[in-house]
This record gives sequence, structure tokens and C-alpha cells, in this order.
Amino acid sequence: MKIAVAKETAPDETRVALIPDTVKLLVAEGHQVAVEAGAGAGAYFNDGDFSAAGAAIEPSRDALYQGADVVVKVQKPSIAGGEVAALREGSALVSFLQPHSSGDLLKALSQRQVTAFAMEMIPRIARAQIMDALTSMATVSGYKAVLLAAEALPKFFPMFMTAAGTIAPARAFILGAGVAGLQAIATARRLGAVVEAFDTRPVVKEQVESLGARFVGLELTQEEAQDAGGYAKELTQEQHDKEVALIAEHLKRADIVVTTAQIPGKPAPILITEEMVRAMKPGSVIVDLAVDTGGNCALAEPGSTVVKHGVTIIGRTNLAASMPIHASQMYSRNVANLLLHLAGEDGLHIDLEDAITSGTMVTHRGGITHPALKG
Ligand code: NAI
Repeated sequence: MKIAVAKETAPDETRVALIPDTVKLLVAEGHQVAVEAGAGAGAYFNDGDFSAAGAAIEPSRDALYQGADVVVKVQKPSIAGGEVAALREGSALVSFLQPHSSGDLLKALSQRQVTAFAMEMIPRIARAQIMDALTSMATVSGYKAVLLAAEALPKFFPMFMTAAGTIAPARAFILGAGVAGLQAIATARRLGAVVEAFDTRPVVKEQVESLGARFVGLELTQEEAQDAGGYAKELTQEQHDKEVALIAEHLKRADIVVTTAQIPGKPAPILITEEMVRAMKPGSVIVDLAVDTGGNCALAEPGSTVVKHGVTIIGRTNLAASMPIHASQMYSRNVANLLLHLAGEDGLHIDLEDAITSGTMVTHRGGITHPALKG
């Protein structure tokens, strides 16, 4: 396959879809890789590193896209910026696409006869774990969220016994103990905080406790809390009210709060209201990782840090881009594993019977193909 690595155009995006080590691997498998000049610069990989790995460097985006069987990206291509129009008719695209909220993009890709694969849609089955880019990026953001909180907290994390007295450890409260939440728990524990974590899915209790944190949860059954794919279900109003009351009690004691609660394809649930922020300790910090999908804290502002009622609320978006070397390394392996899965003898092989291919493909032959996105 002829694989093209695009230079990202979204503002503040530093990651690159394939790094030189992975390019080497794909070239060894018999694929040709071309890289847009400067594509790796934001992640500290230069064109020379890509050439040494066996890639061709292409300064023109149009030439790059026109010569490709598959274009690989991190962020979805922009329609206005001409990226969709530059894709060759009949070629493929592998990228994050935010497919649930990008109807216009999916339409434009179909019209362009592009076969698009959304990295968010990789099914959560054992054999697809090596392609699971959401897990990779959540690992980065869960870790980084705690570092941001530590930086903003006017206190130590660990307990100290000093000649000047004993310093109590910081108390961290993690809302949503999925991939990002578990990474946040581990990072906060390593820094010495006492950690509590909340989730609606009872299955995570054991994982939370194995990291040395205390689990706080509603008494929901597995069926009430979780769908077949392992993701959380939206709660009923009654369950939600109970949850918020429980969270309110724990928030009052917290120094740092990291929120990660999301429901795929839906706005994030509001778990922290203004009234609850007002009841928190002054100087405490909330990092809202769900801010991209509406936020778990009613006062969080996407892309900003605000101080409300003495509480610092960090709404930084795209945290994965703040650690571009490892974020690109992980994403790159996920993308390469998907490409190797899709590669046939002679270019792309679309096997609609295969759960990874059909679960990840969103457009093909002029139409939107994914059942969850039709209509
Ligand atoms: P996510 O980013 O969609 O959600 C984050 C967390 O928020 C989840 O743990 C969810 O239960 C929780 N949440 C949702 N609504 C909530 C609410 N109202 N209150 C409190 N918490 C709420 O999910 P993520 O982290 O991407 O993955 C969820 C789970 O999927 C993982 O914990 C794991 O069990 C499973 N998984 C399976 C994989 C595989 O088998 N290949 C790979 C990765 C994850």
C-alpha cells in the first residue's frame, strides 16, 4: 500500500500519525510510505529521521494525497482548509474523526468516495487492543491531568513529617475510573496523594482498589451500568440524582478532582454543579477531562483555566498533544496495526465480515456505512 502521513493542520496539534520507528516497520512489510515535509516537527521527529526510516518526503500536500492509497492523520481533515478536497477519489483515510458529531465531514468524505476509518470506533475486543487509540490517548491525558492539578494546587501531594510539623497528604477524588481515570489514580498515588474514585460501573471497583485507592460507587448492577462494549450507559434521572448527592459529600474533602466521565456519542454527564464547587475547599483544583464533550463540571470552560469560588477549574483540551513524543509513539503503533490488519495482497482489503474493519469503517463507496451513524 502507498501510505501518506499528513502534516496536521489543526491549531495546537503537535502529534504525528506515524513516527519513524513505525514507518520502518511498515516499509519492512513491503509498504511505501511518504511523509508530508515537516509532519513530525511538533513531536520532535525531523524529515531526516523519516527518510532514514525509508520514507519519501513530499513537500506538496496535493501531490502527497494524490499519490496515496491511504492517508493517515491524527485530527479529522478540515473541509474548509481543503484537506477533504485534496484526498484522491477512491482512496482511504485513517484518523480520529469524531464521527458522532461530524455529520458534514462524513457526508463530504462519502461524496469524495473516500473509505474512512475512525480511530475512535476501534471495537473494544481483545484482538483490537493493539489498535485502541482511545486507550492510548486516555493514558496520556489521565497522567497529565494529575500533573496539571499538582502544579496548580497550593499544597504538597505527599505526607511529610518535618521539624516544622506534619503535612497531611493531598486528597484526590477521581470521577470516572475508566482508562484515563485509572491512570490518574496511579499517578496521584505515585505522587503520594490519598485517592478515592467514583464510577457507575461496579466492575471497576477491583481495578480501583488494586491501585491503592478507595472505590465509591452507586449500587448498580452490571446490566444497569454498562453496555455490551464495556462502556457506561446513561443513567436514569433518579440514579443521576443519587450519584450527584454521593459525589457532593466526597467533593467537600477533596484537594484535587479529576473528572473523566463520558458516554460515547452523548454529552458528558454534569456531575459537579456550581453549588457543589461553592462547597469545596478554597484552593482546591478540578481538572475536567470531559470538557471536549461538554464537561463534567458545570463551570469548566473548554481551553481555559478559571477560578470560581476559590476553586481552580482546568478545562484544557487535547491534553494528549501536550506530550507529543509518547502520544505519537502510541498512536503510531495503533494506526500501523490497523493498517496491517486492513492491508491485502494488492492495496486495501475490505472484509465486511470482519468486526474490526466493519466496526471502524464509517464511509465507503459513496455512503455512510456504520450503523451507529446512519440516519
Ligand atoms: P470513557 O472515556 O467512555 O468513560 C470514562 C469513565 O467514565 C468510564 O469508566 C465510565 O464508566 C465512567 N462514567 C460514565 N458515566 C459516568 C457517570 N455518570 N458517573 C461516573 N462515571 C461515569 O471510557 P473508557 O475509559 O475509554 O473505557 C471504559 C471501559 O472500557 C474501561 O474501563 C474498560 O473496562 C473497557 N475497555 C476495554 C478495552 C478492551 O477490551 N479492548 C480497551 C479499553 C477499555
